Amino acid sequence: MGRRKIIAGNWKMNMLPNEAMDFITRLSESVRETKSEIVLCVPYTDLFYSLLTAQNTNIKIGAQNMHWEETGAYTGEVSGKMLKAINVEYVIIGHSERREYFAETDETVNKKVKSAFNYNLKPIVCVGETLEQKELGKTSEIITNQTKLALEGLSDEQVKNTIIAYEPIWAIGTGKTATSEDANNSIKEIRKEIEKIYGEEVANKVAILYGGSVKASNAKELFETSDIDGALVGGASLNVEEFKNIIMSAEK
Ligand code: PGA
Repeated sequence: MGRRKIIAGNWKMNMLPNEAMDFITRLSESVRETKSEIVLCVPYTDLFYSLLTAQNTNIKIGAQNMHWEETGAYTGEVSGKMLKAINVEYVIIGHSERREYFAETDETVNKKVKSAFNYNLKPIVCVGETLEQKELGKTSEIITNQTKLALEGLSDEQVKNTIIAYEPIWAIGTGKTATSEDANNSIKEIRKEIEKIYGEEVANKVAILYGGSVKASNAKELFETSDIDGALVGGASLNVEEFKNIIMSAEK
């Protein structure tokens, strides 16, 4: 369908500025010619260093969260306006760890997505089912509902520019990956839901990534499916060689 692949790293609460700069310098040398969009979502304290190091490379920098308000008395929070001011391009929204440990809801996810677009940030919105929900056969219901609520009130243009990451929670950091067939089927369901609300033209433009224990050894199989448009990579994005090999798996 001609969608460009996106390979995004999610460093979570790892990497100091010197490590971030070293990583980006090394990675940038080997990914000069890649066709995919390469994004690193780094901790706030690494953003500025990472942006400077990534200048004149094809590595894009993202944050891992943002507040939906522009400014105000929200101790410890960072807004989309602040991220945009230092040229951040991407922001992860609604990661399952944020939903689970920091009380994010579908409603706050939706507010954040809208606010991200107000500041021209590209949101990477995470959806995914728990093991219990999977075992109860609720995967499809959960992920389509999370998608619908995250996108509520967006224009067609904004929906087209939203990146969805399907991340089954039982596969995150566990070494268990969804089979490429299951991951592809879930992603098809998400796209079908978007099509139902926004039409086929919009749905075909949305990049939908898979996340959950993606590594160099399973990336190729995932990327060869019909609907998986790339990956959101946690643990394996902390190692330059491994992350590079994941990126290379997406190059045909
Ligand atoms: P993982 O994390 O690759 O370590 O499973 C993925 C994520 O949480 O985005």
